[in-house]
Amino acid sequence: MEVTLQQLTKQFGSKTALNGVTLKWEEGVQGLLGPNGAGKTTLMRLLATLLSPTSGSATIDGVPLKEKHAIRELIGYLPQEFSFYPGMTVVEALDYLAILSGLDAAARRKKKINELLEAVNLENHRKTKVKALSGGMKRRLGIAQAMIHEPKLLIVDEPTAGLDPEERLRFRQLLAGFSANRVVLLSTHVAEDIESSCREVTVLTKGSVPFQGSVAQLAEQARGKVWAAEMDSSEWHMANQSFNIVSAVAKGSRMSVRLLSDSPPLPGAEAAEPTMEDGYLCLVKAGGSLQ
Ligand SMILES: Nc1ncnc2c1ncn2[C@@H]1O[C@H](COP(=O)(O)OP(=O)(O)OP(=O)(O)O)[C@@H](O)[C@H]1O
Ligand SMILES: [Mg+2]
Repeated sequence: MEVTLQQLTKQFGSKTALNGVTLKWEEGVQGLLGPNGAGKTTLMRLLATLLSPTSGSATIDGVPLKEKHAIRELIGYLPQEFSFYPGMTVVEALDYLAILSGLDAAARRKKKINELLEAVNLENHRKTKVKALSGGMKRRLGIAQAMIHEPKLLIVDEPTAGLDPEERLRFRQLLAGFSANRVVLLSTHVAEDIESSCREVTVLTKGSVPFQGSVAQLAEQARGKVWAAEMDSSEWHMANQSFNIVSAVAKGSRMSVRLLSDSPPLPGAEAAEPTMEDGYLCLVKAGGSLQ
């Protein structure tokens, strides 16, 4: 199972949201990281056949994107803005979706729904109306609906936004467990989501892909460019204007600062070990699109 993109492009009027992206994703959880407006949702909607490309092509498990019907059987999609059937209970909503996805036999549906409710930890909310679920629970119901027909490609658009740490952990474990023999495409702004669960990470910025590789390789993009320094307030003022600051912690009257710079930023600054987030920031700043 693999997903391939060939020069995939999407324009909205004169705006190019996705600019000739060529890549390949193999089985496992694939992280998609990019700033607001980078084109993540556009790319996912193209793969979900909810948008048509302006040019270029893609295949999912060898099936071309333009064979919409066959593609829809292969994919599950949890949109960024997710809501459905507010008046139904959790079980009713899943049962309805299971029927739509072709699970005709009632006994099989029941078994499948029980498995899914257990996997997403919603067994105690079987009879709760969808509109009465918390944001995190709705998200979990969303992932259950996207998994119901056991898709080969599961597309989840920022599923961990707004989840508490425990829920996020559970969610990542769920995706990792599901990803055997499948591709799970996960967009997120949370570096930890990627570091802890992704086989590979793809960085998208301004519609293009400047990087695809492992978490460790992404961190390497920042090697030699991350510096740690202790500063007084005038040095901090200067550094804040001149450099990309990764973090700053006040220590009494001084600041303990981590920043990005191609060369030593000030006397006494020490080269620091880069993290994945540093590598990401380097790429995005180079593209000039960090917001
Ligand atoms: N239907 C549309 N019509 C016009 N422009 C659009 C449309 N959908 C997206 N865009 C534009 O395409 C670009 C990419 O948007 P997209 O939603 O794919 O970004 P994103 O990476 O998902 O951002 P976010 O992190 O905020 O979710 C943006 O400039 C956006 O304004
Ligand atoms: Mg988006």
